[in-house]
Amino acid sequence: MAAARKPDSPAPTPPLAARAARIGVSATSAVLAEADRLRAQGRELVDFGVGEPDFPTPEHIREAGMAALRAGFTRYTPTSGIAELRAAVALAHARDFGSAYAPADALVTVGGKQALFNAVSVLVERGDEVILPAPYWVSFVDQIRYAGGDPILVPTREERGFALDLADIERAVTPRTRLILLNSPANPSGALLAPELFAGVLDLCRRRGLWLLSDECYAQFVYDDHPYSVAAEPEARDRVIIAGSLSKAYVMTGWRIGYALAPPPVLAAMLKLQSHSTSNATSFAQKAAVAALTGTQAPLAAMLVEFRRRRDLIVQGLRAIPGVRCVLPRGAFYAYPNIAALLGRPSGPKTTLEFSARLLQEQGVVTVPGEAFGTTEHIRCAYAASEAAIREGLRRLAAFCALLT
Ligand SMILES: Cc1ncc(COP(=O)(O)O)c(C=O)c1O
Repeated sequence: MAAARKPDSPAPTPPLAARAARIGVSATSAVLAEADRLRAQGRELVDFGVGEPDFPTPEHIREAGMAALRAGFTRYTPTSGIAELRAAVALAHARDFGSAYAPADALVTVGGKQALFNAVSVLVERGDEVILPAPYWVSFVDQIRYAGGDPILVPTREERGFALDLADIERAVTPRTRLILLNSPANPSGALLAPELFAGVLDLCRRRGLWLLSDECYAQFVYDDHPYSVAAEPEARDRVIIAGSLSKAYVMTGWRIGYALAPPPVLAAMLKLQSHSTSNATSFAQKAAVAALTGTQAPLAAMLVEFRRRRDLIVQGLRAIPGVRCVLPRGAFYAYPNIAALLGRPSGPKTTLEFSARLLQEQGVVTVPGEAFGTTEHIRCAYAASEAAIREGLRRLAAFCALLT
């Protein structure tokens, strides 16, 4: 019989699940927490760190959300989302990318992040490999590890705009590969993958029996090309899972609406998982999302014109700083300059983490170090800031770099 415990000596708590130890906090969080601390002290910062547009949610979308609230649309909805929104998702995807999904192929999720999380959770088995181009968005790696999988990083070619070579992906495929995860335009590099690359990867998936998960979070944010989705390729629909988001295109980051478009068995598994975690996405946010997808697209078009101008401004400014190289990002709203030439000076920063930390302390400019995205020579500069703020940030960055050369 177990010895009786004294009431004042409780048994130790059990350990956390091992899967919790497989994920970490992002390398971005230290810099961003320090930025918050400085801001709270009243320091005036230039913020190139944010990952969301600096515009308000368009009026007609907010109105639709408020109308839904006023009408009392505040109860549970079907876990998969309201029929109206699933239809709007399929319709808008066909309109914008030329796909041919039915409403039943769509699952409404709590942001694009949940679509990715659900997909990775139901597709990746313990010990499976997931091919992921680097630089990558940090949550991809942690979601794969949480599912028990191993991310297999495939480097991109910076000299060709962070292009991805099909041969490099093909070489990375092993009998353990289950999934290829692509994100175009990419966070953090702004790189756009060519339709031919997508078609090649799709063909590879068919030949080797793999899934293709395409994160289309920034798919609308292209400046020199037409928006593209691999879902429009012939015979894509039984291989491809699309993770979409209304966060950036409709400036709805806080509303938390995303979606998945997936083959029926995958969608059914994702729905099952969601039914045991969050259930439906917020009811009135779904109504706002219908307005976003089916209403006027003019605010999106205007935002893209503005972002294109800012992109040109920041890239030109970065390239003018001695020691900084910057490829032209063809999408998203991030520039990913290479600062290798400025690292490792006697009293200068040795890593991009140190570079970002000192840039913040000494000049009050917030950036995200490349270490957060799996590279060691870059910083990420979001240009979701006014033209005046971008000019000021560039001025401060140039002053900081001048002391390092
Ligand atoms: C590459 C990428 N995918 C997905 C997301 C998820 O966005 P959300 O969950 O807000 O839709 C983000 C957000 O920053 C992102 O950068």
